[in-house]
Amino acid sequence: MVTEVAVEPRQLVLPLFVREGLDEPRPISSMPGVVQHTRDSLRAAAAEAAELGLGGVMLFGVPEHKDATGSGAVDPTGILNLAITDVVAEVGDGLTVMSDLCLDEFTDHGHCGLLTSDGQVDNDRTLAAYAEMALAHADAGVDMVGPSGMMDGQVSTIRTALDAMEHTDVSILAYSAKYASAFYGPFREAVDSSLQGDRRTYQQDPANAVEGVREALLDVEQGADIVMVKPALAYLDVVRRVRDAVDVPVAAYNISGEYAMVEAAAANGWIDREAAILETLTSIRRAGADVVLTYWAAEAARLLTR
Ligand code: PBG
Repeated sequence: MVTEVAVEPRQLVLPLFVREGLDEPRPISSMPGVVQHTRDSLRAAAAEAAELGLGGVMLFGVPEHKDATGSGAVDPTGILNLAITDVVAEVGDGLTVMSDLCLDEFTDHGHCGLLTSDGQVDNDRTLAAYAEMALAHADAGVDMVGPSGMMDGQVSTIRTALDAMEHTDVSILAYSAKYASAFYGPFREAVDSSLQGDRRTYQQDPANAVEGVREALLDVEQGADIVMVKPALAYLDVVRRVRDAVDVPVAAYNISGEYAMVEAAAANGWIDREAAILETLTSIRRAGADVVLTYWAAEAARLLTR
């Protein structure tokens, strides 16, 4: 009677990886239960997500060949663009189809942007690449793009590019307060990342919460439809502060390392896996997230409706 928050399947978004050139799905060892999909198995996973009543899927593409500019990201026949078309054809309006809009899966240096000659991420040249990538995703039929590279001005650049090409109905889920986190570790395996070093020149300092709120407010001003805090668990205070500060929906990304910690403890028999999953998702909702991106989305939907 007095339960304050509930977790419902419609509030959950399932991140999915699709890799070019696979004959069968390939397990990701640091994320037990999560795979790199083939184009066919991706379609099946998206259809299942729709059947379960999830809010959406977030697609990540892993190309066979990476290069310095991440050219596979803007190529209409690049793996992510093909996958968007496949999934939209499969689920129609039954599910919000979202795409990761970032270069790191496509660059051979693994950074989220283009580099200057001395190896720094070049913010403004990267914005032009993001605009091109947004148009490629929109042409492929995406419902919502998720710029995750933390370049300054990325939301306004993408909004302007989409509107200019009559993609006014493609919306933006902005990775607004994205921290330079050690908990992204398993994701590097999931996208075959070749990153050396870290992303501290463009992602945020884990010590800063006020700055996280400021980033979210800037993104709302630039046209973000949803703002996101990432990671979730180590930043629940930031989720709450952002929820209190903005007037758009707030998402939180329960990321790879958070998933891996629970799975590893459960595999050792140290924790009650299903209870830990539901408690995790409930805590993120309680902190103020309207939407939760989680690798457990499909399983949680089954647990919640049984
Ligand atoms: C960048 C991106 C990352 C994640 C989602 N989008 C990696 C990073 O910024 O280092 C991480 C997701 C996770 O760890 O589950 N394209």
